[in-house]
Amino acid sequence: RDIHVLNGPNLNLLGIREPGIYGALTLADIERRLRDRAGARAALTFRQSNHEGDLVTWVHEAGAAGAGVILNAGAYTHTSVALRDAISGAKAEVIEVHLSNVHARESFRHHSYIAPVARGVIAGFGPLSYDLALEALLAA
Ligand code: DQA
Repeated sequence: RDIHVLNGPNLNLLGIREPGIYGALTLADIERRLRDRAGARAALTFRQSNHEGDLVTWVHEAGAAGAGVILNAGAYTHTSVALRDAISGAKAEVIEVHLSNVHARESFRHHSYIAPVARGVIAGFGPLSYDLALEALLAA
């Protein structure tokens, strides 16, 4: 199955960004782990952007391709009506993921615009959140 792994703002800084919260692995490390786990079971497209519109366009592309989406929208999770509308408009099957347990953090991280249009949400397991999302998409 085609799976697009879309990463939003500041996730390019993983490894140096607040390692106490986000861990020591870089985004490239997370990609490597995920590719190892997927093996031949999935064709992964792995992307990151700091720009909201890129994520909107990539969700459209995934929807059109019938690809599943693992989406860590970063802070756009908590702000972006545009990204939510992209998901419902493109009919993309999206699993929302977060490295950190957003519900154990500041209250502004408790609300997600994405969650109501996502198939499911996985948060708090570090890089394993991505692995769990992969398994969920492959099991569905
Ligand atoms: C995050 C959580 C968001 O609240 C934050 O803005 C991020 C990363 C996570 O993976 O834990 O950028 O999505």
